[in-house]
Amino acid sequence: MRSSRNGPGNGSDVLVVGGGIIGLVTAWRATQRGLDVVLVDPEPGGGAAQVAAGMLAAVTELHYGEQTLLALNVESARRYPAFAAELGEASGLDTGYRACGTLAVALDSDDRAHLRELHALQVRCGLESEWLSGRDCRRLEPMLAPGARGGLRVDGDHQIDPRRLAKALVAACTRAGVRFTHGWAERLSVVRERAAGVVLADGTALAADQVVLAAGSLSGRLAGVPAELLPPVRPVKGQVLRLSVPSAYAPFLSRTVRALVRGSDVYLVPRENGELVVGATSEELGWDTTVTAGGVYQLLRDAHELVPGITELPLTETRAGLRPASPDNAPLLGPTALPGLLLATGHYRNGVLLTPVTGDVMAHVLATGELPDEARPFTPRRFTSAPRELTTA
Ligand code: GLY
Repeated sequence: MRSSRNGPGNGSDVLVVGGGIIGLVTAWRATQRGLDVVLVDPEPGGGAAQVAAGMLAAVTELHYGEQTLLALNVESARRYPAFAAELGEASGLDTGYRACGTLAVALDSDDRAHLRELHALQVRCGLESEWLSGRDCRRLEPMLAPGARGGLRVDGDHQIDPRRLAKALVAACTRAGVRFTHGWAERLSVVRERAAGVVLADGTALAADQVVLAAGSLSGRLAGVPAELLPPVRPVKGQVLRLSVPSAYAPFLSRTVRALVRGSDVYLVPRENGELVVGATSEELGWDTTVTAGGVYQLLRDAHELVPGITELPLTETRAGLRPASPDNAPLLGPTALPGLLLATGHYRNGVLLTPVTGDVMAHVLATGELPDEARPFTPRRFTSAPRELTTA
């Protein structure tokens, strides 16, 4: 599709609200389709990606009842190598994509039973996952606790560095001609029952043919969106630690290592540059992003049970972020019942994993009006009751 309008001060074909990785990838891919795109965010490249560990865990994070989401996750994982290569080329930056695989470990008989069930589900879903004895787990990762009772080797669950990913997307967008507006989008403008742009906190009005709401956990807060169409996303807090592996200890871990410890997930994601990311708590505490002693204690205690040597490493950062969770844990992608308003939000635990497919899906629907087949189950309309008169919030 050809861009219809260009130049500062004019409206755009597309206005993306939110400059996290989902908003950025939407803007980048839409610009590649020839659309003129403006992206609004006070700090493009910020958001949950600054906290996330970057596991691309389609297989190890499979949950019962999420088989539909699994198909989208697997498709996005399949696209990742080409996506990372193209983005690296387009931005001139390394995204930290690392095809290293994952080992999910059981430390006691309850964890073992849980992992056995997960393995059976993975096999039923046709996924590649190999059961290993505790001894074989330790052979693969010698830093593991001696008591490891078995585990799952998943060679297809890789990682990327989300901070580098965000930086590369900002650079790719800039090079591609996305226009950044630094500010807060406060209100959606609706003209003749169609989304027509946004008004910023400083009163600036931006006009656009199509508006994409991609503001992560804040997506449900844009004034002016009809109440029935506000995305049902809520924040789920995750506390994450960063440590560094001195060269004398390297290689500390060669792949992502994770476990369920007394019902809580813990994962250790080793980067090639020596950073080790340990995550994550999962807390329903609204907008709170306080790093707590309890959160740090839980992560260090569980990580230490899994890999005792971790307590030797320098702790370099503690941080909390907000996952944008939806009622069915799956994203909301595509047009809403208000013409001109689209959503790309609600990615919950899978924002980094789903970045490539989200960019492709959103660019396609923005350019053609058609939601591609792989995204149809994720239409925002699944949360909207029968059509009735829309009322603005
Ligand atoms: N996908 C990892 C997390 O949400 O903690």
